[in-house]
Amino acid sequence: MSSAKQFDVVVIGAGPGGYIAAIRAAQLGFSVACIDEWVNAKGGPAPGGTCTNVGCIPSKALLQSSEHFEHAGHAFAEHGIDVAGLSLNLGQMLKRKDGVVKQNNDGILYLLKKNKVAFFHGRGSFGGAAEGGYTVNVAGAAAETLQARHVVVATGSNARALPGAAFDEKLILSNTGALALDAVPARLGVIGAGVIGLEMGSVWRRLGAKVTVLEGLPTFLGAVDEQIAKEAHKLFTKQGLAVNLGVKIDTVSAGANDVTVAYVDAKGEAHSAVFDKLIISIGRVPNTTGLGAEAVGLKLDERGFIAVDDDCKTNLPNVWAVGDVVRGPMLAHKAEEEGVAVAERIAGQHGHTNFNTIPWVIYTSPEIAWVGQTEQQLKAAGVAYKAGTFPFLANGRARALGDTSGMVKFLADATTDEILGVHIVGPMASELISEAVVAMEFKASSEDIARICHAHPSLSEATKEAALAVDKRALNF
Ligand code: FAD
Ligand code: NAI
Repeated sequence: MSSAKQFDVVVIGAGPGGYIAAIRAAQLGFSVACIDEWVNAKGGPAPGGTCTNVGCIPSKALLQSSEHFEHAGHAFAEHGIDVAGLSLNLGQMLKRKDGVVKQNNDGILYLLKKNKVAFFHGRGSFGGAAEGGYTVNVAGAAAETLQARHVVVATGSNARALPGAAFDEKLILSNTGALALDAVPARLGVIGAGVIGLEMGSVWRRLGAKVTVLEGLPTFLGAVDEQIAKEAHKLFTKQGLAVNLGVKIDTVSAGANDVTVAYVDAKGEAHSAVFDKLIISIGRVPNTTGLGAEAVGLKLDERGFIAVDDDCKTNLPNVWAVGDVVRGPMLAHKAEEEGVAVAERIAGQHGHTNFNTIPWVIYTSPEIAWVGQTEQQLKAAGVAYKAGTFPFLANGRARALGDTSGMVKFLADATTDEILGVHIVGPMASELISEAVVAMEFKASSEDIARICHAHPSLSEATKEAALAVDKRALNF
C-alpha cells in the first residue's frame, strides 16, 4: 500500500448519518476517518450536515422562538399575564438560533475527538479502487489522500429547485435563506405545502408575515392520515396560514425587490401573486456531485440516489451509503439508525433498521406526529382494522396548558388488536409519539396501552384513552 493515511472506515459526510456511523464504528474498535466540507461563517468546519446547519436544529430554534412570540402576543392574556410594549428583536432571535447551531457543531467535533475519529475538513471523493479497499481524496485547506477498507457515503441532500426559478437566497429562498431572513417579509410566498413549507411558513406567519402557500397536489399532506391532515388543515387555516391546493405554477420572476408567481388555481383560474420573499420547498435531491462515483463505478438509481439494498450495501464491495443520499424518508433519525446499523454490519454484527417504526414529526403548532400505517393505507391494502380517537379537548392537562386542539388516533388490527399505526395532531405530539414507537417495536396491542397506568394529569392520558377508544371504552369522552 502507498504512504496514504490508512483507516478501516472512511465516512464521507458528517451529517447525522455520517458522524453517527463514524462514532459507532470507532466504538466497535475500528480506526475511522470522517470527512465533511461544511464551512461556518469563519471558514472553519461545521459538522452536523443539513440537520445541524440549515435543517432540524435551526428550524426548531426559530419555531420555538416564534411560538414564544406568538404566545406572548396572543395566549398570555388568557393566563392573566399582560404584556405591554411587546416587540420583536429579530436580530437577537437569529443570533440565538446561530448560537444553538454552533453548540451542536462544537458538540459533534468534541464527540468525534472523544471517540478518536480523525476529522478532515474538505471535500471527499473516490480516487479509485486500491489494494484491499479504496483511495479517498480530501480536497480542502490541506489536501490528503486516505486509504480505506470500508467507505460509508453519507453526503446528504440539498433543496430541489423549481425549473426557471434558481435559488438566489435573497428573494427566492431554499431552506438556507428561509432560516436567515434579516427582516420579516410583509408578503411571504411558499411553493410546496410539505414539511419545510409548513414549518417555515409557521415561523414567519407567527412573526408577522402574511403567508400564502401554493401546493401542487389536490390533497393536503397526502402522506398523513386523512383525518389528521384534515384537522391540521382546518387549524392552520384558522391561524391564518393560507394553503392553496391543486395549483399549477406557471412562472416565477424575480424583480428588484419582489417576486411574482404566475399560477393557475384548482378551479383553472389564472393568478399573478407578488411576494416580498418566496420560499421554494418542493423536496430535496441527493448530493452526489463531485463524489467521484464514476471513478469506482458506484451505481446511482434512476432518481440520482446511491443505489443500496435494505442493508445499505451499494453495488461495490465494502462501500455503504446511508441517510438522505439513499432511498427512504429524509429524516435525521433514519440517517442515524442506518449509520449505526452499517457500522455494526462492518463489524460482522446484525445491525437493523426497522422502516415500519420510523416516526415522523411536523413541528407546527399543533404538532403532527405519526408512526406506522395510515387509515387510507390499511384500506388500500384490504387490512381489517379498528380505530380509536381521543380529542385533547377532553384532556385535563391540555386544558391547563390552554392547548386543546387536535387528537390522538389509534389503528389496530381487527383480529389480533396489534397496533398498526398511531397518529397525533396536538400539543407535544413529537414527544407523545415515542410511546407508540416503543409499543409498535414490541408488537403491543391497543389493549396493552389501554391497561398501562399513565400519569395524571398528562397529555399521554390522551394516548391511553385513544387506545381504550379502539374497544369503544374511552373513560373521559
Ligand atoms: P446531511 O445532514 O445532508 O449531511 C451531509 C453532509 O455531507 C453535509 O455536511 C455535507 O456538507 C457533507 N458532504 C456532502 N458531500 C460531501 C463530500 N463530497 N465531501 C465531504 N462532505 C460532503 N429531519 C428530522 O428528522 N427532523 C427534523 O426536524 C428535520 N427538520 C428539517 C428542517 C429542514 C429545513 C430541512 C432542510 C431538513 C430537515 N430534516 C429534518 C431532514 C434532515 O436534515 C435530513 O434528513 C438529515 O440531515 C440527513 O442526514 P444525512 O447525514 O444523510 O445528510
Ligand atoms: P416535502 O416532500 O415534504 O414537500 C414538498 C411538497 O411540495 C409536496 O407537498 C409536493 O406535492 C409539493 N410540490 C412538489 N413540486 C411542486 C410544484 N412544482 N408546485 C407546487 N408544489 C409542489 O419536501 P420539503 O418540504 O421540501 O422537505 C424535504 C424533506 O425534508 C421532507 O420530506 C422531510 O423528509 C425533510 N424535513 C423533515 C422535517 C421534519 O422531520 N420535521 C422538517 C423539514 C424537512
